[in-house]
Amino acid sequence: MIKKGVILAGGTGSRLAPMTKVTNKHLLPVYNKPMIYYPIETLKKSGITELLVITGTESAGDFMKLLGSGDELGVHITFRVQEGTAGIADALKLAENFIGDENFVVILGDNIYENNFEEEIQSFTKGAHIFLKEVFYAERFGVATLNNKNEVMKIVEKPKNPETNFAVTGLYIYDSSVFAKLKKLNVSERGEYEITDVNQMYINENTMTASFIQNGWNDAGTHESLFYASKLARDMALGKKKTNKQ
Ligand code: G1P
Repeated sequence: MIKKGVILAGGTGSRLAPMTKVTNKHLLPVYNKPMIYYPIETLKKSGITELLVITGTESAGDFMKLLGSGDELGVHITFRVQEGTAGIADALKLAENFIGDENFVVILGDNIYENNFEEEIQSFTKGAHIFLKEVFYAERFGVATLNNKNEVMKIVEKPKNPETNFAVTGLYIYDSSVFAKLKKLNVSERGEYEITDVNQMYINENTMTASFIQNGWNDAGTHESLFYASKLARDMALGKKKTNKQ
């Protein structure tokens, strides 16, 4: 049974400037809640209540002020601070002590999901699992290529000419071998440690599985996607039929 989750909420949020000039992206509103509430709720609805929130140094105090111990949201929150902005996979290294030898879930703090993933998460045993979503414009995501048995053959981070429209969304289930993999990573062309490179290591070991998300999903990292994320959040709050295009 997986009980622990890591929420990655660092980075500069430069694509959302100027709104991110004085605050962190994950504290911005998505319809009626701060962005980070959504990944917390996704994890909680999936049976995960022991959470590690990893933020940058700049707004760490604001995250603590907003979330406190997690009591109000029905979860238990521990905080860690990532110094610098060396990427998602660099931040994940900070979770090693918190996770120890258990399987766990990672969610990116700007990913808004309509459904929960209790079934996939609680039936996971080893390796890694990713969640794919068919999108109109795959260029700004990690993009997965599958074989005819629906197995993931490769993931390319933000390809100029994507081979498929299958975006890798920001929710990952890992076993604790991820920490040894993180230590082997090299910095990518954009100067960051990439979660895609970690996932590729699992693919190379034949221990990566994937499933498709049927309901709504959006990341909220650009002005346009933040707009659609807010629309999705509004549909979720008001129970309306979604119109989730991106
Ligand atoms: C990150 C990942 C990318 C993934 C995306 C989902 O990109 O690197 O593979 O598809 O999150 O939101 P970022 O938005 O941090 O550039």
